[in-house]
Amino acid sequence: MKIIMLGAPGAGKGTQAKMIAAKYEIPHISTGDIFRANIKNGTELGKKAKEYMDRGALVPDELVVDLIMDRFAQDDCKNGYVLDGFPRTIPQAEALDAALAKNNETVDYAINVDVPDENIVNRMGGRRACVGCGATYHIKYNPPKVEGICDTCGAELILRDDDKPETVLNRLSVYHEQTQPLIDYYEKAGIVRNVDGTQDMKDVFDAIVAILEG
Ligand code: AP5
Repeated sequence: MKIIMLGAPGAGKGTQAKMIAAKYEIPHISTGDIFRANIKNGTELGKKAKEYMDRGALVPDELVVDLIMDRFAQDDCKNGYVLDGFPRTIPQAEALDAALAKNNETVDYAINVDVPDENIVNRMGGRRACVGCGATYHIKYNPPKVEGICDTCGAELILRDDDKPETVLNRLSVYHEQTQPLIDYYEKAGIVRNVDGTQDMKDVFDAIVAILEG
C-alpha cells in the first residue's frame, strides 16, 4: 500500500502517518524528519536544508527528489510506505509518478487531512518535538507523561525552530501556493480522500482506517 499524506503544516500528517505505519507495518517516510536528522548530524545536506527550513521555505526539488529516491530503494519499501511531507510540489509529484511508472506502480491513496489555517498557529505553538527520536507531542492535546521529557526515549522536548508563529505563517502561505495544488493533481488521478483533521486524533485515525479498509 502506497499512501501520501496531504495537508497544511501542523494538520496532523505526521501524527497520523506514524499510526498508519504501525498498523499496516509499512515505513513512515517523512522528508522533514530526514532533513532534521541531517541538520542534527551536521551533514552537507543538513546545512543546505537548514537555510530554507528556518525561514519556512521549501528545500529545492532536486535535493528532495534525490534523497527520496535513495530511500525508496531500501528493502523495507517493498510492501509500500506512507509518505509524510513528500511530494510537496507538482515537480516532486511528477518525479514520484515517473519513478513508480518504471515498475508499473501507482500511489493508492492521497489522504488530505483538512484543518483550517486559524487552528494551525495555535496547534504549532503547543507542539513539542523530541531531540532524540523525533517523537511529537502537544502540550494540551497529546502531552508527555513528564513535562519536557520524551515518553519513548527520555530525551528533551523542544519547540521546533520553524514552529515560531512568524515562521508558521510563512509555511502556511508556502503551503497554499506550492503544495495545495497537489490536491487537484491527485483528484485527477481519483485517489484523494478528505478527512476532517479538526477531530480528536483517534477519530481522525478511525476515519483514515475506514478509507483504507473501505
Ligand atoms: P515537515 O516536517 O514535513 O513539516 P510540515 O509539513 O510543515 O508538517 P509538520 O511536521 O509541521 O506538521 P504535521 O502535519 O506532520 O503535524 P503533526 O502531526 O506534527 O517539513 C518541515 C520543513 O522541511 C518544510 O517547511 C520544508 O522547509 C522542508 N521540507 C520537508 N519536506 C520537503 C519537501 N518534500 N520539499 C521541500 N521541502 C521540504 O501535528 C502538529 C501538532 O498538532 C502536534 O503537536 C500534534 O500533537 C498535534 N495534533 C495532531 N493531530 C491533532 C488533532 N487531531 N487534534 C489536536 N492536536 C493534534
